[in-house]
Amino acid sequence: MKKGLFITFEGPDGCGKTSIINLLKEYYKDNKKILFTREPGGTVISEKIRDIILSTKNVEMSKRTEALLYAASRAQHVDEFIRPNLEKGKIIISDRFVLSSLAYQGGGRNLGIDSVKAINDFAIDNLAPDFVFFFYVDPLTTLKRKSQSKDADRLELSGDDFHKRVYDTYIKLLDSMKYEKFLKKIDATKQMLEVFEDVKNILDKEMEKLS
Ligand code: TYD
Repeated sequence: MKKGLFITFEGPDGCGKTSIINLLKEYYKDNKKILFTREPGGTVISEKIRDIILSTKNVEMSKRTEALLYAASRAQHVDEFIRPNLEKGKIIISDRFVLSSLAYQGGGRNLGIDSVKAINDFAIDNLAPDFVFFFYVDPLTTLKRKSQSKDADRLELSGDDFHKRVYDTYIKLLDSMKYEKFLKKIDATKQMLEVFEDVKNILDKEMEKLS
């Protein structure tokens, strides 16, 4: 039985959510109930799968392989880390979850939301986030910096049309009634410290309700 709280952060590449998560890690460092994690990754096996997915050497990776690897990495993350910790009453904050696959593989790679949802339903076995923080910012302005850097990964190098499809799919999914009740909208066009304040205030309020 799930007792904790499962929170995910979503947004396009370059939206700044990873920097905000780093500030939150520092802010909540004395709170032992909160665990931070990320996708793809979060366990040893999932991080190995992450390396395969994101390596710029793997140019021949097919779209369906990519979608299945994200789902496989997620299944291990759910079974080994997320679900057992929620059962212990922990608050888990994950940098990305299923919504990323629906937007990136379903929309970005044109695999279709329904088929990507089907493999992910199998991977997560009925686990849903309690809240999704979405970082609203046009990826085409923020991504320029990242894709020009020599550290850019395979996904970041996928081109403007891909990232536009990803963002449009995110917006379409979030506008659907299904997500409305657990969506926390973040204006990620603001200065980093303002975004941090916005996120922290929402999180603090939700934690208060728990205690
Ligand atoms: P990462 O370095 O974590 O990017 P970011 O800091 O922007 O979150 O790399 C993850 C990349 O993988 C990112 O481009 C989004 C992509 N991704 C998918 O395409 N599908 C998924 O299911 C997940 C979790 C991530």
